[in-house]
Amino acid sequence: MTLKLGVNIDHIATLRQARREAYPDPVDAAAVCLSTGADYVVVHLRKDARHIQEKDVARLCKNFPGQIHLECSCSPDMEKTALKYKPFSVCIVPEEPGEVTTTGGLKFTPKTTKRLLEMIEHLHKKHIRVSLFVSPTAADIRTAAKLGADIVELCTRDYSEAKNAKQTQKLLQDLALATLLANELGLEVHAGHGLDYHNVLAVADIGGMTCMNIGFSIITRSIFAGLPVAVSEMKGLL
Ligand code: PXP
Repeated sequence: MTLKLGVNIDHIATLRQARREAYPDPVDAAAVCLSTGADYVVVHLRKDARHIQEKDVARLCKNFPGQIHLECSCSPDMEKTALKYKPFSVCIVPEEPGEVTTTGGLKFTPKTTKRLLEMIEHLHKKHIRVSLFVSPTAADIRTAAKLGADIVELCTRDYSEAKNAKQTQKLLQDLALATLLANELGLEVHAGHGLDYHNVLAVADIGGMTCMNIGFSIITRSIFAGLPVAVSEMKGLL
């Protein structure tokens, strides 16, 4: 099976919000991503709506049915939004106020598991596929399977921040073992966070992985890939 690519376009909206302009428009970015190789477009609707806004989710889901993967917390408000716009899939992630980015996988406590179970049931009733963002540990994979998730997205943050080759190998092994177990339990496996042009292949090579969700490295690369054209077009006008 060909490995799929989900492109996270949150930071297109970060740029737009910096000037409170109507552009760059995440819908335009989604069209570019989907016409150049992305299989899915990923957006994280945060409680503080600092980049992606609810209206972006509405327009993206309307324009690209079957291709929007929404990341959100398990709050009742986020559940309501997901049920309203019906993205292809929802990845439930932990969210802490003030965090710069998602810091790791979900923490399964009795309270959170009860809430997750409820949200997963509601999403399934609307035929929305559910992914849980988890650390690559056997315990968390088993919990995700018990809760009825369709997908686990393995957090690659620790892997992407490994300090040396030995640590990298150990973290890759954890990801491989987690993938094996998840597949045995009938879960589809995605990976994401901190993946870039240098570190992605070792993860992509793990048998049983089906999708890489990548944002920051692609969006930042696009600036330097596009800046020469943008500057020379302007100079050409003058
Ligand atoms: N997957 C999840 C669950 C995330 O929270 C993020 C970050 O928003 C990503 C993937 C993409 O991470 P990055 O922007 O570092 O590629």
